Amino acid sequence: MASTSGTLEIHDTRTDKNYTIQVTDNVILGADLAEITACTDGVAEKPNKQDRLRIFDPGYVNTAVIESDVTYCGDDEDGNPANLEFRGHSFDYLRKTHDFEDVTYLMIWGKLPSIFERNWLRRELAQACMDVPDSVINVIQSFPKETPYYPMLLGGLSAFLGANKDSIPAMSARNLYHDNIKALDRGCIQTLAAYYMVLCAVYCHRNNRPFIRDVSLDRPMLDNLFLMMGLIEDTTSTRSRAMLHAINQVWISGVDHEMNNSNSALLHAASTLADPVSCFMSALASSYGILHFGAVESVYTMLQRIGKPENVTIAIAAAKATRQRIMGVGHRVYKSRDPRIEPLKGLLHVLAAEGMKDPLLDVAYEMERQIHQDKHFVDRKLCVNVDLYWPLSYTAMGIQQDAMLPIFLCSRIVGMMTHWRESMLKPIKLWRPLIVFNGVRAPKDEEQQEMAPVPVAEARKLSWPDQIAISLLNLPGVPRLLTAVA
Ligand SMILES: CC(C)(COP(=O)(O)OP(=O)(O)OC[C@H]1O[C@@H](n2cnc3c(N)ncnc32)[C@H](O)[C@@H]1OP(=O)(O)O)[C@@H](O)C(=O)NCCC(=O)NCCS
Repeated sequence: MASTSGTLEIHDTRTDKNYTIQVTDNVILGADLAEITACTDGVAEKPNKQDRLRIFDPGYVNTAVIESDVTYCGDDEDGNPANLEFRGHSFDYLRKTHDFEDVTYLMIWGKLPSIFERNWLRRELAQACMDVPDSVINVIQSFPKETPYYPMLLGGLSAFLGANKDSIPAMSARNLYHDNIKALDRGCIQTLAAYYMVLCAVYCHRNNRPFIRDVSLDRPMLDNLFLMMGLIEDTTSTRSRAMLHAINQVWISGVDHEMNNSNSALLHAASTLADPVSCFMSALASSYGILHFGAVESVYTMLQRIGKPENVTIAIAAAKATRQRIMGVGHRVYKSRDPRIEPLKGLLHVLAAEGMKDPLLDVAYEMERQIHQDKHFVDRKLCVNVDLYWPLSYTAMGIQQDAMLPIFLCSRIVGMMTHWRESMLKPIKLWRPLIVFNGVRAPKDEEQQEMAPVPVAEARKLSWPDQIAISLLNLPGVPRLLTAVA
């Protein structure tokens, strides 16, 4: 294989100029391209931004925005299996040998924990959960019980932030987090704890359960959460152990996914030096669309509509005929195989053997079989993604459809905070993309005067009929002289 570094020689036929652009690990700097301009010598020493060569990349399909050593995910275009790795460990290895508590430490602090470090995390997280103020719970309980999860989650987090004004850099006009390890570690733990408590309170509120802040140091946080939500009655019965084992595995495989939409929303906010809760709220809000995590919930609705495996053929045909997207199909990175699916299917099999199986699992199997044989999808490199199966792991355990995404986010928040912490230890550069402006430019100054709307203060001096007439006529091009009617 050719070297991944070298130079790119560019000849610009517009100006007959040559440029040499540095390539490092298959990456060129966008800023280097900005040196290429349409200006010929002598026209402008400093070309304006419209004259600079820019990259137009709607949807960021080929634009890297940050260097990160956290998560690797890749497709198998070289014939190698697609893989997903966290901090240099394959997720498959981690899910077989570690639990979610270990993986939480690994993600945020970059190494698997010693017993001491694991205990430290457990203690810190438990204490932070106990410290979440009652005002947060009160805000959540003030929502009507049937309010969907997301608005209540965001409401609870807002209340948490409101009660922690000192954590907001704008309140003190100071950088609080960048390059401040102590504040970063605290920010990660507090944000995790805030989300965990908010979720438990929302879950209990929606399900008419009393919310009891029962966080024990003798249990991993995952076990605490499932007990507080009443999803398990104890941690020792066979069924509880099977559920906790399954959730550990599902959460490990879902802990992060490199630079996806919600991580980039989080880092976008982080680049302004915002507090971690606000950054997480940005990510949370962006995750709910049906092309992203909203797909988890939508897949289940789709499977319910299809109902049984025999209906899959007609459902796919109808989607193709109406050009509807099939939820749980297609991925920006994985074009032939999502590496998370086979392990998840194995887990679903184990759960089924324990008597925990959603009958819609057979619809998903049939959907996958047909999609992978259908020329329409094969030609477009559309394979099924893990969202086709994730919902079924939750519903198999009796978790309601609308709760599965908020519960899944207990895992993904770890990846999010990992990216936040990592970005705060790198040089700060405000994220500020460009547009290709294709609107109408403002007229020259004197014309602008001519076309300017009548100032409100002047218009107020007019009689009512004249004010109405002017507001109707106050369109671009109507001469300012209209004020003369006064
Ligand atoms: C995930 C997703 C947004 C990635 O999209 P993308 O990489 O930007 O791909 P595009 O939106 O450019 O789609 C490329 C082509 O595949 C088609 N396509 C993509 N996903 C499709 C789907 N789920 N069902 C049917 N067709 C799909 C598009 O219509 C387009 O077809 P065209 O070239 O004939 O116009 C997209 O596959 C999707 O919407 N999937 C469904 C939602 C989902 O499962 N999201 C969870 C992702 S983990």
